[in-house]
Amino acid sequence: MSDKPNRHIAPQKKREDVNLDNAIRPQRLSTYIGQDKLKANLEILIEAAQARGEALDHVLFHGPPGLGKTTLAHIVANEMTVNIRITAGPAIERAGDLAAILTNLRAGDILFIDEIHRLGRAVEEILYPAMEDFVLDIIVGKGPGAKNVRLKLPKFTVIGATTRLALLTAPLRARFGALYRMDFYDQEAMEAIVTRGAGILDVPIEPIGAAEIARRSRGTPRVGLRLLRRVRDYAQVRAEGEITEKTAVSALDLLEIDHLGLDDLDRRVLSAIIDKFGGGPVGLDTIGASISEESDTIMDVVEPYLLQLGFLERTSRGRIATPHAYAHLGRAMGEKEIKQSGLFE
Ligand SMILES: Nc1ncnc2c1ncn2[C@@H]1O[C@H](COP(=O)(O)OP(=O)(O)OP(=O)(O)O)[C@@H](O)[C@H]1O
Ligand SMILES: [Mg+2]
Repeated sequence: MSDKPNRHIAPQKKREDVNLDNAIRPQRLSTYIGQDKLKANLEILIEAAQARGEALDHVLFHGPPGLGKTTLAHIVANEMTVNIRITAGPAIERAGDLAAILTNLRAGDILFIDEIHRLGRAVEEILYPAMEDFVLDIIVGKGPGAKNVRLKLPKFTVIGATTRLALLTAPLRARFGALYRMDFYDQEAMEAIVTRGAGILDVPIEPIGAAEIARRSRGTPRVGLRLLRRVRDYAQVRAEGEITEKTAVSALDLLEIDHLGLDDLDRRVLSAIIDKFGGGPVGLDTIGASISEESDTIMDVVEPYLLQLGFLERTSRGRIATPHAYAHLGRAMGEKEIKQSGLFE
C-alpha cells in the first residue's frame, strides 16, 4: 500500500495493529465470534484428528484481509496443543529456506504459511512431497557427483492463508484436506466483536454506540477494531470518554466513513468508474491508474465489499457500477450508461 495520506481505513495490516491484534485475538474456538459454519467444521476436523491421535490435515483459509485467518491458525494450534511456526510466502525465498524450516518441525507441529499464493515455484516443488508424503527431496553435492537424497519428515500440518485463492496453483491447492472460505461478518457478530474489543481496551461503550461502529465496519473485524480505536480517541478528546451513539456517529462522520462503511478509497473507485468511464465496463488496472492506487489494493480490499453490497459487477469485459452504486453516490444513470453497461440485456 502507498504511504500517501488519505482517509482510507482499509483492512490491511498496519504496524499499530500488531500489538493490539495479539492482545485482542481470541485464543480458543469457544471465544471466537462469528463464522459459525466454518467453526463447526473446524471443530469436527480437530476433534477427529485428536481422537485418532494424528496430526491435523492440511488446512487452507481464504478470504479478504482482516477477517481472522491468522487468528484461526493460532486457535487451531491452541486447540491441538501443538507448536505453531509462522512464515509467509514472500519470506521463503529459496528452496533451502523451506527445507531448513521443514527439518526443524516436530510431529504434530503446525507450519503457518501466510500469503501462500506468493510462494515461488522452486519452493512449491519442495512443499508438494513434504505435504503429501512427509518427505524432503534434496540434492547433495554438485556436478556429476550430485546425489538425490530423500529425508523423512515428521507428520506435520500446513495451515495456509491467502486473500487470493485464484492465484494458488492447482497442485498446491489439491494438497489441502480442508479449504475454508472466510465470509464477511454479520451485524450481530460485528457488534459482539466491537463490544469485546472495548472491554479489552477498557473503554465504556453503549450498545448503540457499538452497533454504529459495527455497521460501518464492512463486516471486517480488523476494520471494526480500528474504528473502535479512532472513536475512542474522539470520545476521549471531544467527549467524556464514553462511546455513546452520538460520539460514534460524530467520530465516524469526521473520518468520512459513510453509513455503509464506505471510505474515501471506495468512493474514489466508484466515482472513477462512473464519472471517468461512463459506468464501465472498465479494467481494474485502468481504474487503478486513473486514481493512482495499486490494482492489488483495489482487488483485495475494495472490490470484495463492493461486490458484496451489489455496487459492482465483475464481467469478462471489466468492472461495471450497478444502479445501487449510482444511487449511493447520488448520480443519475442515463440511458447511455444503462446500454453501455449491458446490465439489463
Ligand atoms: N472472530 C473474531 N472475533 C474477534 N476478533 C477477531 C475475530 N476475527 C478476527 N479478529 C481480530 O481482527 C484482527 C484481524 O484478524 P486476523 O489478523 O486474523 O485477520 P487475517 O484474515 O489474518 O488478515 P490478513 O489477510 O490481513 O492477514 C485481529 O485483531 C483479530 O484479533
Ligand atoms: Mg493474517
